[in-house]
Amino acid sequence: MILKIVKYPDPVLSQPGEPVTEFNDELRRLAADMFETTYAAKGVGLAAPQVGVSKRLTTIDLSMGKEPDDRLVLVNPEIIWSEGKLYEEEGCLSFPDIIEKVVRAAKVKIRAQDEYGKWFEMDGDDLLARCFQHEIDHLDGVLFLYRMSPLKRSLNLRKIRKLQADGEW
Ligand code: NI
Repeated sequence: MILKIVKYPDPVLSQPGEPVTEFNDELRRLAADMFETTYAAKGVGLAAPQVGVSKRLTTIDLSMGKEPDDRLVLVNPEIIWSEGKLYEEEGCLSFPDIIEKVVRAAKVKIRAQDEYGKWFEMDGDDLLARCFQHEIDHLDGVLFLYRMSPLKRSLNLRKIRKLQADGEW
């Protein structure tokens, strides 16, 4: 089922998600729906707060649905190591059509549970590292808008306010 993606400034996006404690069919259905929603929106990652569910769950698929093995469900994820810096373009499904350069660590190691509660560790670099950081930020209520420089942030906020005024946001 395709879910509705909430847009900035919906308050659910700014609140930290609750840790997941129950690894049941409901959680797995939510993860499956989040993949379907991401593919429909032509994205690579989605965090549960973006579909209005304030839980520490995110789904990532850099292949955009082409490679079933690339589907990553991260439950209660945390970054346990990071290295380097990259300043690259980034977008967010809760900020349609806004692309901005944001500084992120170049490599990270994460620790997370899968949809059955099993803990695992995973390394990521480049786009995957960026995705891990962006999505885990969502689970902490941190939006990429706040990772931009103050100048870029105010320019984008002005753009959003204008789109809102025109009824296009
Ligand atoms: Ni996002």
